Amino acid sequence: MGLVKWNRYGDALAAWVAEHDFGAPPAVYSRLQELVNGGAFGYHYEFERVLDSFARWSEVRHKWTPNPELGINTVNVIQGIWACVEAFTEAEDGVLFSTPIYPPFFNIGPTTNRRPVEWSMSHDEDGWHYDFEKLENLLESDSGIRLMVLCHPHNPTGKVLTEEELSLLVDIAHRHNLIIVSDEIHGDLVHPRATHIPMLTIPGADDCTVTVTSGIKTFAFGGIRCAVAQTGSRKIFEQLSTVPSALLGGPNRMGAEAAITAWDTGETWVDQMKNTLDSNRHLLFDRLNKELPAIKMHLPQSTFVAWLDLSNYEPGERPATWMRGLTGVAGQNGLNFGSEGSGHLRLTFGTSPEVLNQMIDQMVEGLPAL
Ligand SMILES: Cc1ncc(COP(=O)(O)O)c(C=O)c1O
Repeated sequence: MGLVKWNRYGDALAAWVAEHDFGAPPAVYSRLQELVNGGAFGYHYEFERVLDSFARWSEVRHKWTPNPELGINTVNVIQGIWACVEAFTEAEDGVLFSTPIYPPFFNIGPTTNRRPVEWSMSHDEDGWHYDFEKLENLLESDSGIRLMVLCHPHNPTGKVLTEEELSLLVDIAHRHNLIIVSDEIHGDLVHPRATHIPMLTIPGADDCTVTVTSGIKTFAFGGIRCAVAQTGSRKIFEQLSTVPSALLGGPNRMGAEAAITAWDTGETWVDQMKNTLDSNRHLLFDRLNKELPAIKMHLPQSTFVAWLDLSNYEPGERPATWMRGLTGVAGQNGLNFGSEGSGHLRLTFGTSPEVLNQMIDQMVEGLPAL
């Protein structure tokens, strides 16, 4: 049905974009069908209900009770991030983000005349980590950094920040006069033995944080657009509100109602999907360890992407392109996520176990023996 995920690379098995294949809960399809049948294409006022449903979902799923009166509707998450850059920084200010990172973050600097500052993550046999000493050094050497865009949980490594790490970030933000924009779009998809702690539940975060998020990763409806920028204090809300609402637009009726229905009714469905994702991550991890040990993978703590190190194969600058040619499995090239992605590719495992097994079979068959 015109899905870019499955059409972009012809017959290749699609694992390049962060979108799962489970669709949305049945209630979402029913509600959208009702709206289409009823011709509900006119102007609408569903914005407030989006913020109410988001607050209810956050309370039930994450023990966080955002105040809908301190939330702002946006069309998508990226728009919310750009709105924060506009509201809280000025030309030439530094905007910091950890790398490797979701590629659009690299566009913040060039499109807004702000200075991108990369906080490179460190890497050892246990996985990828935030290096707080490095962060302090960056902030001390550059007093013009005003905003940190955090990807929490982290795309592409799946790293989930702990309560201690989040508290440290709030403390650092206060000491360095920073606003934290916490992109929590993957927050619903945290696996057993890790917990998603919303940044705005951390003491002291209220007066330095905007959380941007949406249901689109959880419910796979990225094409119909609906997101939220949530603040925790009147002061931050008012400063964010200096961005004219005409520039933010707001979600269309279908996006708004899809999000409302998903958040109001989707709990059991999400629990079931998370079970599949959890078993998929183990399936991928176990089979790669056993059958393709030259590929290095850490078990991701969250979401449905695996950050695979293929350096042992010396695959060149475009490991995903190289692997697609040999195996018919389409991942995404690691360098799209920053220089730390050299030798890496990101592989989406948000699919059925059958398709995932097929991908791994094709990798086992097509990759050279080492
Ligand atoms: C961390 C992160 N933020 C934002 C987005 C995109 O959200 P939107 O389409 O609502 O801008 C994605 C999509 O993969 C993502 O991984």
